[in-house]
Amino acid sequence: MASESISILLIVVSLQLMLLWPIGSSQSPGFTSIDCGSSYPSVYTDYEGIQWISDSNLISEGTSVHLSDNVLNQALATMRVFNGTQSKYCYSFTNSMNGYIVPKAFFLVRASIMPGTNPPYRPRNSDGMFRFKMIVDGDEWRDVQISYGDTTWWTFDVYVRAQRDRIDVCFSRDGPDGDAPFVSGLELRPLPPTLSSTIFMNGSGKILIGRGHSSYGVPSSGPSHVRYPNDTLDRYWISYRTSDSYLNSTERTINTLNVREHPPETILQTTFTVGPYFTLNWTGLEAGSEQYVQFYFAEINPLVNRSGIRVFSISANSRSLTTRLDVFGEVAANTAYSLPALVDADETRSILFVFTAVANSTFPPFLAAAEFFNTRLSNTLTSSATVDVIEATKNTLGLSNYTGDPCLPAGYGYNWLNCSEYNSEITAILLSNYQTGGKIPTELSQLTTLIQIFLDGNSLQGEIPDLSSLEKLSTLNLSNNNLSGSIPESLATLNNLKALYLQDNNLSGEIPSRLLQRKNASLLTFEFSGNPGLCESKSKCAASSPQSQSPDSNPKKSNIGLIVAIIVGCFILVLSTAAAGICLQWYCRRHASNLQNRSTKANEVSPVEQRHIQMQEVVNFNSFHQTKSKLLQITSV
Ligand SMILES: *[C@@H]1O[C@H](CO)[C@@H](O)[C@H](O)[C@H]1NC(C)=O
Ligand SMILES: *[C@@H]1O[C@H](CO)[C@@H](O)[C@H](O)[C@H]1NC(C)=O
Ligand SMILES: *[C@@H]1O[C@H](CO)[C@@H](O)[C@H](O)[C@H]1NC(C)=O
Ligand SMILES: *[C@@H]1O[C@H](CO)[C@@H](O)[C@H](O)[C@H]1NC(C)=O
Ligand SMILES: *[C@@H]1O[C@H](CO)[C@@H](O)[C@H](O)[C@H]1NC(C)=O
Ligand SMILES: *[C@@H]1O[C@H](CO)[C@@H](O)[C@H](O)[C@H]1NC(C)=O
Ligand SMILES: *[C@@H]1O[C@H](CO)[C@@H](O)[C@H](O)[C@H]1NC(C)=O
Ligand SMILES: *[C@@H]1O[C@H](CO)[C@@H](O)[C@H](O)[C@H]1NC(C)=O
Ligand SMILES: *[C@@H]1O[C@H](CO)[C@@H](O)[C@H](O)[C@H]1NC(C)=O
Ligand SMILES: *[C@@H]1O[C@H](CO)[C@@H](O)[C@H](O)[C@H]1NC(C)=O
Ligand SMILES: *[C@@H]1O[C@H](CO)[C@@H](O)[C@H](O)[C@H]1NC(C)=O
Ligand SMILES: *[C@@H]1O[C@H](CO)[C@@H](O)[C@H](O)[C@H]1NC(C)=O
Repeated sequence: MASESISILLIVVSLQLMLLWPIGSSQSPGFTSIDCGSSYPSVYTDYEGIQWISDSNLISEGTSVHLSDNVLNQALATMRVFNGTQSKYCYSFTNSMNGYIVPKAFFLVRASIMPGTNPPYRPRNSDGMFRFKMIVDGDEWRDVQISYGDTTWWTFDVYVRAQRDRIDVCFSRDGPDGDAPFVSGLELRPLPPTLSSTIFMNGSGKILIGRGHSSYGVPSSGPSHVRYPNDTLDRYWISYRTSDSYLNSTERTINTLNVREHPPETILQTTFTVGPYFTLNWTGLEAGSEQYVQFYFAEINPLVNRSGIRVFSISANSRSLTTRLDVFGEVAANTAYSLPALVDADETRSILFVFTAVANSTFPPFLAAAEFFNTRLSNTLTSSATVDVIEATKNTLGLSNYTGDPCLPAGYGYNWLNCSEYNSEITAILLSNYQTGGKIPTELSQLTTLIQIFLDGNSLQGEIPDLSSLEKLSTLNLSNNNLSGSIPESLATLNNLKALYLQDNNLSGEIPSRLLQRKNASLLTFEFSGNPGLCESKSKCAASSPQSQSPDSNPKKSNIGLIVAIIVGCFILVLSTAAAGICLQWYCRRHASNLQNRSTKANEVSPVEQRHIQMQEVVNFNSFHQTKSKLLQITSV
């Protein structure tokens, strides 16, 4: 018995015929599913009755890529690649999409990712792995690592709590030289506030990063996974298939009423059981990090109690999770039971769960299903007052492409802002030479935490607004623009101002004397040359008139340069737009024919092709390696 080896071969799960057919929209309210990179059809219903919408009207950034693979799931046929240089690219799930997203409501967010056999580019790293980051609202969600050419359908999920009427899901490079992120599908599902997991989130302020919803003891003939409609919450429960000698199953209904998490009945009708004990080793965790697990059981063996009892304990890294030894002896026939627990990874970066029958137990321990999550404290989003100012600034300066939280998560805010580390207050605006135009947004005066403003080297017009409320402001660089009007007296009231650059604009009138005094007292670095209309005192102002400006003064020159640059720029833009149009036509034609080929192929998929499509949730996590006796191995990276 002791030397028996269990081989639990998993993962290579061929999805049952996943052809597309419309069966009416019977999906649960609040479900929102986005097919990334797709343009046609804009809305469709998949084989589970779930409605998908194209992302073409939801995001302006990124490039749509059609996979050349013969995929059987339409969401995987296209993906969106973000190969620009912004710090992150975000999709927003909004209340107007489903009416469900309100502050404090809970959601499952899931991303589907599949590079396919012909990814649009090669990963930077020589090990051939794509690496990028996923972000949800202000929190880091996952570091994605997937091999080039992988045809596995990877799904990643996270339980989050909305902080406003919107949830942003963002994709980011893993550093400036990192790989361009890509995604095939995004799904949002409401979660009731009464689940054990959401109650935990409410109490702790944490998000739960999914590491797997696992169904154990599934016979080889069983389904590869269970999801909606069997699971009303549409979690993906991946089947861990087991040889018949290590499982037990029933056709009888299971009462799941006393389990808060609403597990689907199907996953409780099969159960894994072997010997007087078995272990489950969850590895690849961060040392000392906190994890949330949930185990599910249902006594489906009618012999229990009639010819003996089943009593067992569970420990995690030697700490008992079952407070009373007999806790599972009380589970009635065909009634589900769950055990949620918080456990910390040890210094070997793993958690060893041991399921052990007590001495007088006639029946061995068992396990029907489990869920694994990393916990992470959720960041409070940047305040809506600050976000409103940034939104106004984006609109005024033509920067609306920047999406998601302006400051969070740390390191993934907008690259033209600096924020304080702890309370995400904006301390600097760094828009030097950003090729933006428009007026200086008056709303900036509300960002009273600002220390530095760099707006130099753009083509800003209009007057300098009243910034006297920015009491912390130390540097203001507005040089090299096309600002007009006079220098506001209010700038002189900024006591912390150490540097003021206004040179090379079109400012006019008298320079406030207090600014000149502070410059002369070396309290202020103050540059104002290259403004032909400026004068240092009343008497000089009277003497100089606009006509006396030298016609070939510096600002004019640079303005002419600018105009030439703009004309050349426009010309290039027109050319490239035309070229893009031609390319697009060619591309669409090509792909229309590919799609036709694909749909005919899909109807006659060979078993080999089917096996191509695999479904896993986490790198390595769902691979139960073939191991020694009674050891289930879980690895998460
Ligand atoms: C992004 O990818 C598209 C399509 O592959 C390509 O045309 C474009 O030049 C790329 N842009 C950048 C910034 O790499
Ligand atoms: C969430 O937590 C607050 C206190 O932190 C509590 O008042 C409230 O009832 C909780 N809500 C739920 C649904 O548990
Ligand atoms: C889902 O439920 C239906 C009926 O309740 C059942 O026939 C079907 O086998 C279930 N699917 C899976 C994958 O368990
Ligand atoms: C499975 O259940 C049957 C009764 O339904 C029982 O006879 C058998 O011993 C069980 N097998 C295991 C491995 O528990
Ligand atoms: C569990 O995994 C960790 C990390 O790989 C390893 O150090 C430990 O020995 C494993 N435990 C068992 C019982 O295999
Ligand atoms: C076994 O007996 C215990 C106590 O007598 C009872 O609480 C439990 O529900 C029974 N279990 C089954 C599976 O009938
Ligand atoms: C099983 O053993 C425990 C102590 O280990 C004891 O408390 C319990 O009553 C025993 N149960 C039965 C049914 O003998
Ligand atoms: C914003 O998006 C549009 C459309 O994709 C693009 O043409 C433009 O260059 C982007 N602007 C910036 C500042 O990234
Ligand atoms: C902005 O933040 C970056 C990165 O933390 C830092 O290197 C830089 O000095 C900051 N710039 C300003 C103007 O505060
Ligand atoms: C202010 O802007 C000008 C023009 O872009 C630039 O030359 C200068 O270095 C800037 N000053 C500082 C302190 O960055
Ligand atoms: C400077 O402003 C005046 C009006 O104040 C305008 O007539 C003139 O064209 C501007 N000069 C440049 C170079 O834009
Ligand atoms: C500068 O602004 C004035 C209006 O204030 C405008 O007439 C002129 O064309 C602008 N010059 C440049 C180079 O943008």
